[in-house]
Amino acid sequence: MLFVTGGCGFIGANFILDWLARSSEPIVNLDALTYAGNPENLTSLEGDARYHFVHGNICDSATVEQVYAKYAPRAVVHFAAESHVDRSIHGPAAFIETNVRGTLSLLEGARQYLAGSTDAALKNAFRFAYISTDEVYGSLKADDPPFTELSRHEPNSPYAASKAGSDHLVRAYFKTFGLATLTTHASNNFGPYQFPEKLIPLAINNALGGRAIPIYGSGKQVRDWLHVSDHCAAVRAVLESGQPGETYNVGGESERENLQVVHTLCAILDRVRPKASGSYADQIEFVKDRLGHDWRYAIDGGKIASSLGWRPARSFKASLEQTVRWYLENGDWLKRVQSGAYLKWIDQHYGK
Ligand code: NAD
Ligand code: DAU
Repeated sequence: MLFVTGGCGFIGANFILDWLARSSEPIVNLDALTYAGNPENLTSLEGDARYHFVHGNICDSATVEQVYAKYAPRAVVHFAAESHVDRSIHGPAAFIETNVRGTLSLLEGARQYLAGSTDAALKNAFRFAYISTDEVYGSLKADDPPFTELSRHEPNSPYAASKAGSDHLVRAYFKTFGLATLTTHASNNFGPYQFPEKLIPLAINNALGGRAIPIYGSGKQVRDWLHVSDHCAAVRAVLESGQPGETYNVGGESERENLQVVHTLCAILDRVRPKASGSYADQIEFVKDRLGHDWRYAIDGGKIASSLGWRPARSFKASLEQTVRWYLENGDWLKRVQSGAYLKWIDQHYGK
C-alpha cells in the first residue's frame, strides 16, 4: 500500500493513474480538495478496489495518524502542497501551514507509526518520498551551471521558502530519527490535469477564450520543462531504488524562454485549431513582472541518471503538442475547474 498525499492535484493525479496502470499495489490518497484538488481527475478509478480516498488535511495529525494505522502503508509519496508562486506572493501563510506544518505532521505520523510497529520487514522497507522543487535553489544567471544536489538552498519566493523549510525538516527526520526519506527536486512540469493558473494551461485557456496571454516582464526568463509522465517515472525510480537520506534533481533537459514556450504553443494552436483570422500569438501581452521573479532554473540530472538510470524520455515539442490537444479535447474539464463546478461534484460524492 502506498500513502499518497495531494493525489487529486495535477502531478498527484497523474502519478496515481500511472501507478495503477502498472501495478497491483493499492493506493490511499489523502487530499483536502483545495481549489487545485479535483477528484474528478480520478473518476476512472471509481469502483477500483485498489484505490482509496480520504478527504482530509495533512496538517490534521489525527487524520494522518488514522491513515497510517488503517492502511499500514509501506511508503509515503508526499505531493500535497500549495504550489503556485503568484498565490504565495499574495498570501504566504497558507504556504507555511500546508507546506511546512503539513509535512511535519506526515513525518511525525510516520515516525510514530513505525515506532509502534513490531513488523521488522516494514520498518526496514519503509520509505518517505518528499516531492520538492528546483525553486529551493533560487535563481541562475544565463551562463551559470545548472543546479546540482549540492547547490545551496537560496529560496526567493514565499512558496520556495516553504518548500525549502520542508526540505530541511525531511533531512532532519532522516538524520535525527533515521526515517528513510527521499527528496526529489523537479523542474517545471506540464501535461494533462494542470490547473489553468500555471503558464502553459493558462496560455492555452486564454488563447482559446480570446483573452490576452500575459507574459511577465521581458518573457526572457528560462524554465526547464518536464512532462509530468517523465516526472512520475522519476518518482517511481527514486521510490524503488533511491538511497535513503539522498536528494535527486529531476529535469526535463528542455530549457526554454517563457516567450519561446508561448510562441511554440500558439503555433501549435494555429495549426490544429486555426482562428478565423490572425495568429494566437497576436494575443500575447507583456504585463508587469512578478515580484522577485527568478530568472532561470536549470537542472543537472547527472546523479539520477547515473545512480538510478532515469532520464526524461519525452521531447518537449511533441509533449507540448500532446498537452495542447488534451486541453482541446477536455474543454469541459477546463470550464468546470474554473467555474468551481467540481465543488458541486465534491458535495455529491463526499457530502461536504
Ligand atoms: P497542485 O496545486 O496541482 O495540487 C496540490 C494538491 O494538494 C491538490 O490536490 C490539493 O487539494 C492538495 N492539498 C493542498 N493542501 C492540502 C492540505 N493541507 N492537505 C491535503 N491536501 C492538500 O500541485 P502540483 O503541481 O501537482 O504539485 C505537487 C507537488 O509537486 C507539490 O509539492 C509541488 O511543490 C511539487 N512540484 C510541482 C512542480 C510543478 O511544476 N507543478 C514542480 C516541482 C515540484
Ligand atoms: O520549477 C518548479 C516550479 O514550477 C514548481 O515548484 C511550482 O509549483 C510551479 O508552479 C512552477 O513554478 P513557476 O513559477 O516557474 O511556474 P509558473 O507556471 O507560474 O510560471 C512559469 C514562468 O512563466 C515563470 O517565469 C513566470 C511566467 N509566467 C507565468 C504566468 C502564470 C508568465 O509570464 N505569465 C503568466 O501568466
